[in-house]
Amino acid sequence: MLTLGINYSQLHDSSACVVRDGELLFAVAEERISRLKHDARFPSNAIRACLDFTGIRADQLDEVCFGWPTPGYEYRHDLKLFATGQRPITYLDVLNSTRHFLSMWHQKVGANPFQQQFGPVRARMRFVQHHVAHALSAYAYSGFDDATVVIMDGHGATEATSIWHGHGGRLDHILTIQYPDSLGLFYGEFTEFLGFHRNSDEWKVMGLAPYGQPGIDLRPFIDAEAKPYRVDTRRVIGNGSDPFSGMTPLLGAPRAAESEIDDRHKNIAFAVQDMCESAMMSVVRMAIEKTRCRNVCLAGGVALNSKANGKILASGLVDKFFVQPAASDDGVALGAALVPYLDNNGKVPIKAMRHGYWGPSFDDSAIENNLRTYKVRHTRLTDPAATAAELLAQGKILGWYQGRMEFGPRALGNRSILADPRDPEMNAKVNNAVKFREWWRPFAPSFKKEAARDYLESATDSPFMIVTAQVRPEKRSVIPSVTHVDGSARPQTVEKEVNPLYWRLIDEFGKHTGVPVIMNTSFNLRGEAIVNTPTDAIRTFFSSGMDALVLGSFLVEK
Ligand SMILES: [Fe+2]
Repeated sequence: MLTLGINYSQLHDSSACVVRDGELLFAVAEERISRLKHDARFPSNAIRACLDFTGIRADQLDEVCFGWPTPGYEYRHDLKLFATGQRPITYLDVLNSTRHFLSMWHQKVGANPFQQQFGPVRARMRFVQHHVAHALSAYAYSGFDDATVVIMDGHGATEATSIWHGHGGRLDHILTIQYPDSLGLFYGEFTEFLGFHRNSDEWKVMGLAPYGQPGIDLRPFIDAEAKPYRVDTRRVIGNGSDPFSGMTPLLGAPRAAESEIDDRHKNIAFAVQDMCESAMMSVVRMAIEKTRCRNVCLAGGVALNSKANGKILASGLVDKFFVQPAASDDGVALGAALVPYLDNNGKVPIKAMRHGYWGPSFDDSAIENNLRTYKVRHTRLTDPAATAAELLAQGKILGWYQGRMEFGPRALGNRSILADPRDPEMNAKVNNAVKFREWWRPFAPSFKKEAARDYLESATDSPFMIVTAQVRPEKRSVIPSVTHVDGSARPQTVEKEVNPLYWRLIDEFGKHTGVPVIMNTSFNLRGEAIVNTPTDAIRTFFSSGMDALVLGSFLVEK
């Protein structure tokens, strides 16, 4: 069976993937090809890339599965919220909700643009409940036959949080908490209050939180200890004309974007993160009580909160733990594509996802063509991993572009900017010269998996940088530029069998320096999508302060 999974909601992170006979072949987010971050348009480019890479024609597809239900479902829920006062009625909100409904209805959730651009096709079109798609993206790729599945996002079709029990390839629904009683909404609105963008900049609040102190009481906004948590949505959303009308009386004025960060902002970030961690922990605890299964899988945008994930893992609550690396809506395509396997009392295939390299790749001849076209001076390397390790040991900031692009928000050593984690100044150097991003956002380390235990107190099997761990106190000064102010790190553990080239680079760096750890951040500039093509990589290299670029077997230096 050939299935195409699609995420398309006009909200954020459109994506597509192909699954053949239960095996994921390819997945890519539209933003990587269109270069528009979080691109929410119909993922024409992503679908075309799926078909091109796999050599499958659209008319060969058996199923096309969208990770959203038909839009009447969501619109009815929205109208009910307006009518019952759970959401303030404003002209703009009602207009936006109605416009969204009409547009999705007109497009049949995306089936119409698909047929127009890729049809006619014989494939059956399916419109999957959003949290079912999220839940399958977590459960089926966890590798756990028996699993507690918890989905937490901002706003599904109508849902915000749901709990499932996966067993024997099937998924039982346990509980749903409807929007707007939403952890994603809570975090997103405070992200806006702190002068950042919701559904995009929650990372910045999470990174800022450890610089704050306890003391700000957010209990008027959320009861994080309740089972399940309860968000006071009227206070969090505001009164319609002023979205911060519920916050300002208790917390002061919102921060203007790009303005100075003061102690009050840091303390609010601390409290937001603290409340979110407590609420997530409480949901997971409740879910385990209901399913009696301590193997836990998470997905949904809130599950990108790697700090909270780290606390869940370290709490001892769970035996096995898997967070879908594309936890946000891009990953919905992965779960939607598996729904046909549940037909006729069927089972979804359960297979542990061990890497994120599901995207396009460009071989050496394509790379060399690009370098020649742009008249970029380059040399061919006999051993790219060894050369890269040598350059890193000399303190160089390196662009590293190899193999298939990662799916999900993290670069995992195929589209990465790499640097020496031992240099305490390296964080500032990379921030100032390359990423041009906020000073407080930490960079993450890639470890040889074998060495992770020497440096970390937990999360020593962590291939996706989505669960934080505490760096052992005696090692914090060894890798200062990837250790956050609270002693945490967001590690990637690299296995030799999974990514031999990247593993060897880290190994070679270890031979030079005695420290088999590399600073790894995504290959992009601030506000841009991670690079996809060699052209993207070359353009980003020359628009930044990177010292050298290893593209496939080629080296470019400044
Ligand atoms: Fe979602």
